[in-house]
Amino acid sequence: MSKLRLGVMISGSGTNLQALIDACAQADYPAKIEVVISNRPDAKGLDRARNAGLKAVCIDHKGYDDRAVFEDAVHNCLTDHKVQLVCLAGFMRLLGADFVGRWKDRMINIHPSLLPSYKGLHTHARALEDGVKFAGCTIHYVRPEMDNGPIIMQTAIPIAADETEESLIAKTLTYEHRMYPAAVKLIAEGKARVSGNKVIVKEDVALPTEGLISPLA
Ligand code: GRF
Repeated sequence: MSKLRLGVMISGSGTNLQALIDACAQADYPAKIEVVISNRPDAKGLDRARNAGLKAVCIDHKGYDDRAVFEDAVHNCLTDHKVQLVCLAGFMRLLGADFVGRWKDRMINIHPSLLPSYKGLHTHARALEDGVKFAGCTIHYVRPEMDNGPIIMQTAIPIAADETEESLIAKTLTYEHRMYPAAVKLIAEGKARVSGNKVIVKEDVALPTEGLISPLA
């Protein structure tokens, strides 16, 4: 079976990108990364991509006066590489409705909270401030509204009594790194289908890793 062609979009350190690179290195993994795009030239993730021998492209948003022209450049890069699924992995620019519409149900994002709670930035600090007992992370299809869209997979992460923002960020990332490859695999194997504002997961899918809460749970 041919592998699902991924385009990964980043702005920063790219640890989730690394998790996808590592997963794609396995012979039986059903997806492969065709291109990594960063909107920031200094993104460490670009080095991760190059070190893995992947095509790494910087499309610096600062070089564009007009967001639509920037997004056209990104779109063209993705289509040039025949990308079938766009994976936003710490991509820190809001994408316009036109771009999102062109990739509807073909673009996913990872967010460090249990959506729909804590959209936006500083999710860990806000969760700690509120005294919630569970933080988490979510992978969802992208819709024009920020951090919104059909949820593919979530992990609930207990918050310890002595939790700090730093420890919660680090803990959350370890779960993100397990969840992103699992969610991409689900999609690549055709086991996740968007139906309205929900994702229906095929019933024979086992929980991918301990501690993950799938849409079946
Ligand atoms: C992650 O916490 C992700 O959920 C959020 O941005 C962060 C990116 O981290 N969208 P990295 O660049 O993958 O290390």
